[in-house]
Amino acid sequence: MKTVSSFQRLKDNNEKIAMLTAYDYSTAQILDSINIDGILVGDSLAQVALGYENTYNITIDEMLIFIKAVARGAKNSFIIGDMPFMSYNLTLEQGLENASKMIKAGANAVKLEGCNDFILSLIRRCVESGIPVLGHLGFTPQLINTLGGHKIQGKTADKIETILESAKKLEEAGCFGVVLELMPAESAKYITENLKIPTIGIGAGVECSGQIVVTDDILGKFTDFTPKFVKKYENLHDVIQRGVENYKKEVKEKSFPSHRESFELDKEEKEKLIIV
Ligand code: KIV
Repeated sequence: MKTVSSFQRLKDNNEKIAMLTAYDYSTAQILDSINIDGILVGDSLAQVALGYENTYNITIDEMLIFIKAVARGAKNSFIIGDMPFMSYNLTLEQGLENASKMIKAGANAVKLEGCNDFILSLIRRCVESGIPVLGHLGFTPQLINTLGGHKIQGKTADKIETILESAKKLEEAGCFGVVLELMPAESAKYITENLKIPTIGIGAGVECSGQIVVTDDILGKFTDFTPKFVKKYENLHDVIQRGVENYKKEVKEKSFPSHRESFELDKEEKEKLIIV
């Protein structure tokens, strides 16, 4: 069984942590079958699975539906539920209650973005209550309007030190790891080397303790936009398009369903029917 200590063990053993996102039952089953180190039910599902323009509109109740589906599919994986925008920023009680809903839905931990006194208190409350927390620094999508767009973070020595300072605070507050998003590889390396807990990079170079990417991005299924840090391992968009085109063609030309995909009436019953 995977726990938060599995992540620390991997880092301590110098073994990279491979994580992916999943939003549905069948994808979760596949990730579980390859023994992935962790599955994030990311709020990226707002764009990737629900077609929203950004991640602002996804609610905690919507997230819970996807967490439940993933938990049904991935019985042996460590599942992290991403706390959506404003589901943990109002009061500590609100944050704790919503985090606990994710755990009750089947997540083993939650992820939340940023680092300020409020977030640190919330992390402490969650951890004390038995809810492991993964932090998220660098580019934090829920702050896109404040950050002024998809901008690379940690580009100067000062900024790197600030991110490191935040990461250390997250570590002290009890986070079992921290996602580092969109920053130069050297910045993420420096931060990783100065932390005890593992870093999980996305667009942050190879020196992080592990990597996370959006599964639909690397499989080429989601094509609205492709960040530079995405490597496409497959082109599912074309595979699916080809498949459904063939299906449509065969329906039109009456070659589907064939004899093989059909059920036959018994001969005697058939003879009783009046053929017009
Ligand atoms: O929502 C998401 O998918 C994320 C990334 C870190 C992959 O937060």
